[in-house]
Amino acid sequence: MAELNAIKELRVEHITKRFPGVLACDDISLCVGEHEILALVGENGAGKTTLMNIIMGLYQSDEGAIYINGNEVNFKSPNDAFSAGIGMVHQHYMLVPNMTVLENVALGIKECWKSVVDLKLVRDKVNEVSEKYGLKVDPDAYIWQLSVGEQQRVELVKTLCQGAGFLILDEPTSALTPQETEDLIVLLKRMSKELSIIFISHKLNEVKALSDKVSILRHGRVVFEGNTKDYSPKQIAALMTGHEVEIAENKADPVEGESVLDIRNLCVKSDRGFYALDNFNLEVKAGEIVGLAGVSGNGQKELAEVINGLRKAESGSIRFFGTEIQNKSPDEVIALGMGYIPEERNTEGIVPSMSIKENMILKDSASPRFSKKNFLNHKAIEKYTDEMREKFDIRSPNMFVAAGSLSGGNIQKVILAREIDRNPKFLICVYPIRGLDMGAAEFIHKQLLALRERGVGILLISEELDEIMNLSDRIAVIFKGQNKAVLNKGEATTSRLGILMAGVKEDE
Ligand SMILES: Nc1ncnc2c1ncn2[C@@H]1O[C@H](COP(=O)(O)OP(=O)(O)OP(=O)(O)O)[C@@H](O)[C@H]1O
Ligand SMILES: [Mg+2]
Repeated sequence: MAELNAIKELRVEHITKRFPGVLACDDISLCVGEHEILALVGENGAGKTTLMNIIMGLYQSDEGAIYINGNEVNFKSPNDAFSAGIGMVHQHYMLVPNMTVLENVALGIKECWKSVVDLKLVRDKVNEVSEKYGLKVDPDAYIWQLSVGEQQRVELVKTLCQGAGFLILDEPTSALTPQETEDLIVLLKRMSKELSIIFISHKLNEVKALSDKVSILRHGRVVFEGNTKDYSPKQIAALMTGHEVEIAENKADPVEGESVLDIRNLCVKSDRGFYALDNFNLEVKAGEIVGLAGVSGNGQKELAEVINGLRKAESGSIRFFGTEIQNKSPDEVIALGMGYIPEERNTEGIVPSMSIKENMILKDSASPRFSKKNFLNHKAIEKYTDEMREKFDIRSPNMFVAAGSLSGGNIQKVILAREIDRNPKFLICVYPIRGLDMGAAEFIHKQLLALRERGVGILLISEELDEIMNLSDRIAVIFKGQNKAVLNKGEATTSRLGILMAGVKEDE
């Protein structure tokens, strides 16, 4: 592995960055010392990622300067930042999907670029790093075959292989399982003996467990700085949002609605050819929220896809309002009233190059509400999009900017607004609050409860046990493609679910 580049101090002074219509960073100053971990927190769109991209040389700031060990640096590209020993794991992964893990790592290691790429050298590095830090990756897997959590691990391995002495981690835990998150926190803590870290997260218990210092951004400005040990997660939350955050809870009695989604003996293959769903059974009734708990990678992705017509089933049945929808096309499933909040935001949730306005009506462009005689009714679409921006607090200069230019959390809000507000008859949400700040998460949970009140059945796929337990009427547990148990609201505890999620039978 390359020698770690010693960075004793990274200082950012008076950084300002404007995008058309947005002041993303407004006179920001920060300092991270040797072996220090700084947590950077703030609501969606506060400017966290932009500031990091400026440090990495991906964007140029309009004003301000960056100093390393007291010397001003002027990075023109991430390459310059790597050379100075700074590595970043991005919020949206930057891996090449149709290349293997090894090939992706090789892209970042110049020493292996000879007349042919020396993959043996890369393999050795990958093995060394994954062993040293306990980060398991399959070097020969293609990126497109990996879950989001696995991709996150590859990003970390890739950055560490480059020999970074200063790590920038932009929401590194958002797609990790609770166990992986715990492991990563321990790992990062240990690594901070050798390097410095800027850590961005919306999860304040992680901030508390990991960081030495915390800075809060609001509307592009630093509004608070302090030593983490002096504040509780609750206090940091209040400083961040300016008010106490309430937790939305499903306190209603269980319903006896009609069966809406009825899945029986479903068998589905994964991209890698094994059975991701193996005789899976599940029922969701009208007006109830069924939480599907499980460690990601146990068939959740394939389940959401097969229900939405995005993957073929091998056998079994999926009845939706009594109709068999197995192997129907996505359009046909949508027409039957299915709403879908997918895990993969940028590829399945939005079309990044299209405007917010266009993304908002992706599924309804042919409906009489938004088009007349095959022509789009722009006035109606714009009025609707404006309402949605207001209601879901989507932060953007206007509705004509590309959805891909929004901050991570705001992209998620576009998807949530579209799927929740088009009045689905049924909704599948996969990790719905991933990447949302606490205020936004609370708002979304309230929206889901309101849909439930209106009689909509909801399948909530999540790894966050708090979220599952707060919202669900019933909780199913998926493990290795099978539904291991269905518990009523009152029967579920964190430890019981944890045990089931690990595949242990309850009588063992
Ligand atoms: N390339 C870009 N073009 C135009 N606007 C941008 C671009 N990148 C970021 N912005 C805007 O800058 C602001 C700050 O975005 P940024 O991604 O830094 O937020 P963030 O704090 O990382 O939020 P999140 O928690 O949602 O990831 C947002 O209003 C965003 O729309
Ligand atoms: Mg961000």
